Amino acid sequence: MTINIYLWHHFSGSNTCFLFTIFSVLFIISTPYQLSASTGSHSAGIDDILIYQRRRVLSYNGDSLAINPSLNFENPRLENAYIALQAWKEAIISDPKNITGNWIGHKVCNYTGVFCWPAPDDPSQLTVSGIDINHADIAGNLPRELGLLYDITLFHINSNRFCGVIPQSFLNLRLLYEVDLSNNHFAGKFPEILLQLPSLKYLDIRFNEYEGEIPRELFEREFDAIFINNNRFSSELPDNIGKSTVSVIVMANNEFQGCLPASLGNMAGRLNELVLTNNGISSCFPSEIGKLKNLTVLDLSHNQIMGSLPESMGDMVNLEQLNLAHNMLSGKISNVTCSLPKLKNFRYEYNFFSDEAPDCLKLPEFNDRRNCFRGRPEQKSMLQCQRFLSRRINCSSFECSTLPPPCSLSPPPPIYSPPPPSPPSAASPPPPPPPQITSPPPPSSAPPPLAPPPLLSSPPPPLISPAPPSPTPHNNNSPPPPPPPIFSSPPPSPTPPCACMQPPAPSLP
Ligand SMILES: *[C@@H]1O[C@H](CO)[C@@H](O)[C@H](O)[C@H]1NC(C)=O
Ligand SMILES: *[C@@H]1O[C@H](CO)[C@@H](O)[C@H](O)[C@H]1NC(C)=O
Ligand SMILES: *[C@@H]1O[C@H](CO)[C@@H](O)[C@H](O)[C@H]1NC(C)=O
Ligand SMILES: *[C@@H]1O[C@H](CO)[C@@H](O)[C@H](O)[C@H]1NC(C)=O
Ligand SMILES: *[C@@H]1O[C@H](CO)[C@@H](O)[C@H](O)[C@H]1NC(C)=O
Repeated sequence: MTINIYLWHHFSGSNTCFLFTIFSVLFIISTPYQLSASTGSHSAGIDDILIYQRRRVLSYNGDSLAINPSLNFENPRLENAYIALQAWKEAIISDPKNITGNWIGHKVCNYTGVFCWPAPDDPSQLTVSGIDINHADIAGNLPRELGLLYDITLFHINSNRFCGVIPQSFLNLRLLYEVDLSNNHFAGKFPEILLQLPSLKYLDIRFNEYEGEIPRELFEREFDAIFINNNRFSSELPDNIGKSTVSVIVMANNEFQGCLPASLGNMAGRLNELVLTNNGISSCFPSEIGKLKNLTVLDLSHNQIMGSLPESMGDMVNLEQLNLAHNMLSGKISNVTCSLPKLKNFRYEYNFFSDEAPDCLKLPEFNDRRNCFRGRPEQKSMLQCQRFLSRRINCSSFECSTLPPPCSLSPPPPIYSPPPPSPPSAASPPPPPPPQITSPPPPSSAPPPLAPPPLLSSPPPPLISPAPPSPTPHNNNSPPPPPPPIFSSPPPSPTPPCACMQPPAPSLP
């Protein structure tokens, strides 16, 4: 049981990310609970001896994880936390604000960014219940010892420079309720380990470098909010998306392709905000979209959505912000959409609409530029319009769902001669838009935003019921951490490349 930790420290000083891979494999094979250095009571016994040996192992090679025997921990939980936090401190290679400067000694509840609370299963014991080091600009990685923070409910490391992967040991964190990894340098596949955390409700991994597919399981969990915008996800949207229980889902600024799933309509009861701007969605509108009666914000701008707007949009009675700009939509924008009772801002510039109802021009804010409207300023050229509109669009050809195609409402059954527009070369793709809603600034390397000014006000806070114990009277020097600045912009981290590696350790004598 001790071997993993032993090896870990034995080899500390080599490339951690590489080692991580090896040991996480070992770790999966064995139980996730073995990390505990001291979970039991303090009565002497074989377990304690093992624990003791394990602790000695932690001090192998005299590294800084050595637990000074004179440290008096109030309880084993805090001792575990100490091990976790010291390991983390060691895995940090840059801490320009000296946030971890006071991560010294046994009073872990006094460490900056660490919050304690009575343990839920034993209120007589104080335990670490939350980590909040948002905006600390720290570079490093997440060591597997973090799995010793058994009782945490919050893990907020927004706007740092962490890289690598989420350790398998996070499986221990069965109370973890909110994870905010946004605006860091995490890369690789979607961190599926997080989908196995039984208490997780709020998942924020935006502004990282995750790539590939998003797993279907993401939508099977009872989450309140999902933020995965500004990564490099590139799959189609899973058709089980409608099973999701979220009130907010932001997937903007990725490379999602394919259909706008008809199953979105199944999120009718709860969904408040759906943001998919700047992806490669290329289908028609499913008429099921009209079922989203609680939706207040819908942003599908900067995709390649085709066809006309379904009349069912007239059912979206709570819609306030609607952004369909920079797509390939055509047909008429009817009165039912523009007279939605709460609609305040409707952007549909850069499409191929050819008719708009009078009510559209009465909206508090709207933008109809660069369409094919007669008699409106700044429209596309006749030639552009004719060329596009002469092609007919066959919504069924996208083969998006078994449901009847929504676009059949427009007079001529649309047929599309050339295949749907995935090839980015053909129709001029929309310029990359600024990250509108999606708060944090783009990584510094990103091209400057070209397109329209931000439209949507920052989304309302998600329903994060702060189940997590608000930290805490036991932290003497600070009030509870402010709720994570979820929607406000994390400042740009001045982002040097994250070396996923620890500094070399002193060589063995
Ligand atoms: C970092 O903080 C610690 C404790 O607050 C302090 O002792 C140390 O001098 C600080 N280091 C720097 C470089 O400011
Ligand atoms: C925590 O820090 C405060 C102020 O810095 C100090 O007064 C207090 O004794 C410390 N408490 C513990 C438990 O270390
Ligand atoms: C959805 O909207 C209806 C009516 O507009 C409202 O009664 C209901 O409370 C809303 N549900 C949620 C979860 O916001
Ligand atoms: C559009 O609908 C509104 C309200 O439903 C109505 O008052 C208005 O007369 C309609 N306009 C047209 C041109 O049909
Ligand atoms: C539209 O596309 C579907 C599927 O590709 C095809 O079966 C159908 O015949 C097409 N309809 C027209 C009018 O071309």
